[in-house]
Amino acid sequence: MPLPTIEWEGDIKGRIRLIDQTLLPNELKFVYCEDIKSIWHAIKTLMVRGAPAIGIAGAMGVILGIRDIHTKDMDTFLKELRQVVTYLGSSRPTAVNLFWGLTRMERIAQENKKRSVHEIKEALLQEALKIQNEDKIICRQIGENGAGFIKDGNGILTHCNAGGLATADYGTALAVLFRAKEQGKRIHVYADETRPLLQGSRLTAWELMHAGIAVTLICDNMAAHVMKQGKVHGVIVGADRIAANGDTANKIGTYGVSILAKEHGIPFYVAAPVSTFDLSIKSGNDIPIEERSPEEITNGFGRRTAPEGVAVFNPAFDVTPAKNITAIITEKGVIHKPSHESIQYLLGKHTS
Ligand code: MRU
Repeated sequence: MPLPTIEWEGDIKGRIRLIDQTLLPNELKFVYCEDIKSIWHAIKTLMVRGAPAIGIAGAMGVILGIRDIHTKDMDTFLKELRQVVTYLGSSRPTAVNLFWGLTRMERIAQENKKRSVHEIKEALLQEALKIQNEDKIICRQIGENGAGFIKDGNGILTHCNAGGLATADYGTALAVLFRAKEQGKRIHVYADETRPLLQGSRLTAWELMHAGIAVTLICDNMAAHVMKQGKVHGVIVGADRIAANGDTANKIGTYGVSILAKEHGIPFYVAAPVSTFDLSIKSGNDIPIEERSPEEITNGFGRRTAPEGVAVFNPAFDVTPAKNITAIITEKGVIHKPSHESIQYLLGKHTS
């Protein structure tokens, strides 16, 4: 059953309802955001997380930010909209889907600027809902395009959570696995727990168990051993930003998994919507990497696990070089051996 990760409730005066992912798997609780600060906070603290989901949250957040702008003057409205977009964009830097969603909202306002402010607000709400609905279709298509890579009896390793919780409902990397299961293939998933915030154990293991897919949880540092034992036939992960040359930012630890996969001759797949490509960025070196609070590492288990005063480095993402990626699975098709040329070919072919 699709997860109601994030929904807009009501008309323009409505609110955002989201699953508080920080509480899973112990508690399935909805949180309601009625103003822009609360959705900013929900994104920042990972109540809502995963690249496509924060793209949707950002777009819906724009509605919370602009609905109380009372001016009738278009220039003033557009200026205030800009401030709303800048503020929401300051919540998390790495997943380009957030900026993609915000840019799309601003574009709608620009395209409609001959209309009244009231009409633009309505158009913006419709656009936010459209972004959400499109994502549902995109996830299904990614699942369809990727399922052929999964063979009956395969063991598949994944890192972090690229499931329904990270998207409008079906996931990206997990969509491929859900679809393979629907096709009757028996698969066994190894879920990296994904330190420091445990998206793999708290969210991916939870989602897969609910979907009736066999899953074994491992600590991140066990992946090499499990691969060496021959239990893993493929790795599939999501993405937060893909540069023009195919270098891919995803949850911290993904880069290491890609090196392990290469060493063991295991194919490494990335599943992501086209909105995760950032063609303005030439290579992964230019992708901004979020750094988060030291407490996530030193107090991650509800108690202190490191000496007071220890220096901590907590990057939330790393970059997997394109050379380690066997293929990128998108809703528009599969990019084998990602490179500047193969990416241009797929994206260009479908946008012309
Ligand atoms: O910090 P998070 O939990 O937002 O990181 C999420 C990931 O790294 C996901 O793999 C990525 O966003 C893809 S989600 C379909």
